[in-house]
Amino acid sequence: MSSSAVSAHPETYNYRVVRQFAVMSIIWGVVGMLVGVIIASQLTWPALNFDIAWLSYGRLRPLHTNAVIFAFGGCALMGTSYYVVQRTCQTRLFAGPLAAFTFWGWQLVIVAAAITLPLGFTQGKEYAELEWPIDILITLVWVSYALVFFGTIVRRKIPHIYVANWFYGAFILAVAVLHIVNSAAIPVSALKSYSAYAGVQDAMIQWWYGHNAVGFFLTAGFLGMMYYFIPKQAERPVYSYRLSVVHFWALVFTYMWAGPHHLHYTALPDWVQSIGMVFSLILLAPSWGGMINGIMTLSGAWHKLRTDPILKFLVVSLSFYGMSTFEGPMMSIKTVNALSHYTDWTIGHVHSGALGWVAMISIGSLYYLIPRLYGRTAMYSSRLIETHFWVATIGIVLYVASMWIAGVMQGLMWRATNVDGTLTYAFVESVKATFPYYVIRLGGGLLFLGGMLLMLYNVAMTIRAGRSEDAPIPALAAHA
Ligand code: HEM
Ligand code: HEM
Repeated sequence: MSSSAVSAHPETYNYRVVRQFAVMSIIWGVVGMLVGVIIASQLTWPALNFDIAWLSYGRLRPLHTNAVIFAFGGCALMGTSYYVVQRTCQTRLFAGPLAAFTFWGWQLVIVAAAITLPLGFTQGKEYAELEWPIDILITLVWVSYALVFFGTIVRRKIPHIYVANWFYGAFILAVAVLHIVNSAAIPVSALKSYSAYAGVQDAMIQWWYGHNAVGFFLTAGFLGMMYYFIPKQAERPVYSYRLSVVHFWALVFTYMWAGPHHLHYTALPDWVQSIGMVFSLILLAPSWGGMINGIMTLSGAWHKLRTDPILKFLVVSLSFYGMSTFEGPMMSIKTVNALSHYTDWTIGHVHSGALGWVAMISIGSLYYLIPRLYGRTAMYSSRLIETHFWVATIGIVLYVASMWIAGVMQGLMWRATNVDGTLTYAFVESVKATFPYYVIRLGGGLLFLGGMLLMLYNVAMTIRAGRSEDAPIPALAAHA
């Protein structure tokens, strides 16, 4: 319905694009995690690549990371941000057709990634693999996304800008800058380009990008989700608005400097590595400030955790956020990194953040959102949400704990020396010793994927029983 139809019908929120992103987030989540399970199987039994180039680990791994981060996470972020910005500004989304373009353009990016990565077209930069024509499409979609989001903020009917929008806004702006700077490349053919940077500068820019992709894509945007959906589901106000403002500025300032911790003991000047380490240690404070603000929002509502599985997802996500943002600073200490780097400890850390924090907060938020987008009061089955919660949580614990143990074991085996100075273990011995942990990780991944399939079914049944309904915008209300 257009905003000009005010007199005949009340003006409504634009839920169509939110619905589209929400549903696709779940579908891409299943696809991306399925690819995760496939590569976890290949690490366990390498013959599972069947000697087919496009099924090989090297090509499927970036497909997994792109699918889970940009397709699953990206759709969840774009969908929830469009919902939150409308509700908290009490106005319809700015530039509806442009918002529709962001949806279809983003799906095109994902499909292009799903075709080109298995075919082996890549820039070889982690999390920025896609070749230059796709990069240009990403830029167009992202600039449109920024226009829709900030345009909606400009036309808001509520004087103040709710803190969730600050985090979503920082995520949108920072990702634009990161993508444009890191993707600068010289094309040599339709699907081949070379980075505009060389040597150690290229590495530094890549990890300035890579770490801030963690900080702004995998963290700031999801903190936006936290600041809206936790208070909503707990039916409590944010614990401290003042803390949220301090949290915001401290986090966005500190993240930008921490990238060099990915390049310890490399050709990067030593003092730059030390700056990365120091800022990573400082980062613990704003990260925990945010986590505490989220958890304390439950003050007076803790009893709801007993019966509300959606709240369980949201609260457990914060526990994993706290855990991974404690672990990250520890791993950034050079002497710790000397042990953890190149080992599966990093993979454990990644997935305690990615599954524990990113996926769990998204799943909780989507369970809150779906019934509201389809004119229902609740999801089809609360029992299935509860089962999903336990299956997912056990899956994460198996994944993360097995990788921690494997990682520390690998680090210790690689550095062990005999009295005559020779290495105690050949590399292949560490690979053999890792096998049981890879089997356990695969089990954890299968459980997590199983949970996503339960979610897909639950969502499909909710949608079947519901209607695609856009809620009216209240004429004069104090809050969303
Ligand atoms: C069923 C769930 C999942 C499984 C089984 C899985 C499995 C894997 C495997 C086997 C790897 C390669 C590890 C290696 O190179 O040694 C990997 C890497 C990665 N995954 Fe997942 N994953 C899952 C879900 C996710 C999700 C939801 C996210 C993000 C939101 C994610 C983000 C990543 C990232 C960023 C890497 C690269 C890590 C690095 O380079 O250090 N994964 N995953
Ligand atoms: C205070 C916050 C954090 C700090 C200081 C931090 C620090 C680190 C460090 C030191 C590494 C290992 C680098 C290496 O040895 O190569 C790492 C890897 C990684 N972290 Fe974190 N981390 C933090 C939070 C998070 C969160 C919340 C997530 C996910 C949602 C995350 C995702 C990743 C990923 C994907 C990698 C692997 C990058 C790669 O090599 O491909 N981190 N982090």
